[in-house]
Amino acid sequence: MLNKIDKLMAEVAAMHAKNAGEAENLRIKYLGRKGIMNDLMEEFRSVAPEKKRELGQKLNTLKQAITERINSLKDQAAVTETAGPAVDLTRTPYPIPLGTRHPLTIVKNEIVDIFSRLGFTLAEGPEVEDDWHVYSSMNFADDHPARDMQDTFFIESHPDIILRSHTSSVQARVMEKQQPPIRVICPGRVYRNEAISARAHCFFHQVEGLYVDKNVSFTDLKQVLLLFAQEMFGPDTKIRLRPSYFPFTEPSAEMDISCHLCGGKGCSFCKHTGWVEILGCGMVDPAVLDANGIDSSVYTGYAFGMGIERITNLKYQVKDLRMFSENDTRFLDEFVSAN
Ligand code: DAH
Repeated sequence: MLNKIDKLMAEVAAMHAKNAGEAENLRIKYLGRKGIMNDLMEEFRSVAPEKKRELGQKLNTLKQAITERINSLKDQAAVTETAGPAVDLTRTPYPIPLGTRHPLTIVKNEIVDIFSRLGFTLAEGPEVEDDWHVYSSMNFADDHPARDMQDTFFIESHPDIILRSHTSSVQARVMEKQQPPIRVICPGRVYRNEAISARAHCFFHQVEGLYVDKNVSFTDLKQVLLLFAQEMFGPDTKIRLRPSYFPFTEPSAEMDISCHLCGGKGCSFCKHTGWVEILGCGMVDPAVLDANGIDSSVYTGYAFGMGIERITNLKYQVKDLRMFSENDTRFLDEFVSAN
């Protein structure tokens, strides 16, 4: 009988049930009224009294082991039957990845936000434009080289319809509809017929600013741009304006900021000059005001234009312009914390 009990003990560990039905069959086989345990109890009655104590204990242990094993098989079957095999309840949950704002959008929003606080409102215009709004109304002479195929994408069947090459066209769109005071900020995409490389692209983004009112002066322009530079690049940022030329402004200037990487001491980023260029600006040429229906004998204005890619590169040191349009999530994920 001792042998039988040992053999049964070994069987218990190997018991398997694919479902609750099989587990119940095992229960009947071992623990049922006509089951194996019952037969053993019968046999136990005729065992010699001096062996009863030891055998009795062994039988109890066996019965308990069988009961526990069958109960656990029943529990397992219940879990798999309700959850189904497709759901693994033991798997560690992982965070669901969230998308991020594009770095150019982050920077555009920041620029718009700074100028909004200074009272500028948002204005937008079409990307497919006519020659008038992009060039003629902005005082470009008929033979200005910027109209050349080198620069401008023409719509073949309509030589007058082009993809805008700068957001200055939105200045014209605003002035033809609205009399001063005008204080607008105009972000948007622009197109130029350039070979794509790390430093140039056939499309990029600009933000145009325009302020027209009575008595607007160059000092106003300079003060607003200083404030913008310090908000964008930090309170210690300095600016300098260098004389330049644009058809639509007179006088015109290009603005540099003190290099925010070396603090103006000179480093490889600023080519050891301590300064980096960030935008073009100037007083709106009276010819532009008049061409767009605003009396230049009453009003004056200033304008500025900057590349969003340029500002983003300065802020985040993106080395290759093409990364902005490749949508590589490894690049975009680097801006999660800036969102
Ligand atoms: N439109 C110029 C460009 O695309 C940028 C610019 C310069 C805009 C001076 C302005 C300005 O409004 O005053 O390079």
